[in-house]
Amino acid sequence: MELKTQSDWVARSLRSVWHPCTQMQHHETIPLIPVSRGKGAWLYDHEGRRYLDAISSWWVNLFGHANPRINAALKDQLDTLEHAMLAGFTHEPVIELSEKLSALTGHVLGHSFYASDGASAVEIALKMSFHSWRNHGHTDKQEFVCLKGSYHGETIGALAVTDVALFKDAYGPLLRASQTVMSPDARTAAEGETAADVARRAAADVERLFIERGDRIAAIIIEPLVQCATGMAMHDPLYLQLVRALCDQHKVHLILDEIAVGCGRTGTFFACEQAKVWPDFLCLSKGISGGYLPLSLVMTRDEIYQAFYSNDVTRGFLHSHSYTGSPLACRAALATLQIFEEDDVLNTNRVKAERLTKALQPLAQHDQVRNFRQRGMIWAFDAIDAPKDFSRRFFATATEHELLMRPIGSTVYMMPPYILSDEEIDGLAANTLAVFNQVMAG
Ligand SMILES: Cc1ncc(COP(=O)(O)O)c(C=O)c1O
Repeated sequence: MELKTQSDWVARSLRSVWHPCTQMQHHETIPLIPVSRGKGAWLYDHEGRRYLDAISSWWVNLFGHANPRINAALKDQLDTLEHAMLAGFTHEPVIELSEKLSALTGHVLGHSFYASDGASAVEIALKMSFHSWRNHGHTDKQEFVCLKGSYHGETIGALAVTDVALFKDAYGPLLRASQTVMSPDARTAAEGETAADVARRAAADVERLFIERGDRIAAIIIEPLVQCATGMAMHDPLYLQLVRALCDQHKVHLILDEIAVGCGRTGTFFACEQAKVWPDFLCLSKGISGGYLPLSLVMTRDEIYQAFYSNDVTRGFLHSHSYTGSPLACRAALATLQIFEEDDVLNTNRVKAERLTKALQPLAQHDQVRNFRQRGMIWAFDAIDAPKDFSRRFFATATEHELLMRPIGSTVYMMPPYILSDEEIDGLAANTLAVFNQVMAG
């Protein structure tokens, strides 16, 4: 007989599923939560308990679980075309999505190349950058630059431009060396310095490196405005302007990884709009499918596209993934973009963000909290003298308060879906305070 209770699902999962980014032994003490269904901002377990998805299920969900509009689009797409390969064939959802995304950049980034997960998009951007220089005869441009604390994914190439020791160190011998420059993290401001001053200092570090070895550097890769995985490190948009200018001056590509910060997360549809710059490559994933299906893509300028356009097959970009441009995933993305248009999402988010920031003031002013920060629909603060195992204890305690939250080290953050009601916003703030106080009390 099939087992159906909550604890049976846990036991069966632990017997056969290897969960991501987890030391599995921790599940001897930390509960694994089997989700039976989702609705709006909430996930429900098999015993009827619910959890407010305050981190959008790893930053992917924008308009809630089981969103009726995205569901309807997907059901229609299922009955039309579930999948067709994208080499030699094309289809309506991928064409419309590429056109709409291009239009959102004022057609500066005219072509989109598709993959599935974020890390694959990063791999593509790195390979494309190197290969386009090569096609132009600049074969020495083989190096990549990343920022201190950067995170671009877990595959070998993406990990090489990631600077989070916990994820990277074990695989050090497998990874190609990259150059690491200072992070513009505004928290590192010295006494009397502004975030813009830190941005200038960090850009000077890039300039130093470009002067020294710009002829060997293919690209610099940056998470614009917020370096999320390192602990929601935020910086001044000025940094992106300065680096864009340096890239132009030294002939280095600018790759902006908007996998976490794109799709309205920072207040504008693309984070780089706040700096009024466009990159040479823009990576998008996570929220673009509304959090429904794995979809990632790299948008690029027509000059880059032209560098591959030739009668010589080896000058082409011969990269592929089986599910490249999945019609279902692209249709989910189109439904997501339609919600942005129909609901004036960026403006309504502003109102929601103001309310949550206000409701979080007791935490912002808390004497065990520093660096309370917010950009768009991202909030974060750092616990002062956080107890051992703070993050795991916070996660477990949060579940007891109907919250799904996973602090990064001693940084507590929120990245909720864009559909929270006023009541949910107030509940999120009040419960986060309660969880924080309980965990800090030990
Ligand atoms: C900025 C950034 N780049 C890349 C990735 C990797 O995306 P994926 O986990 O879909 O491979 C992430 C994931 O968190 C991310 O935050």
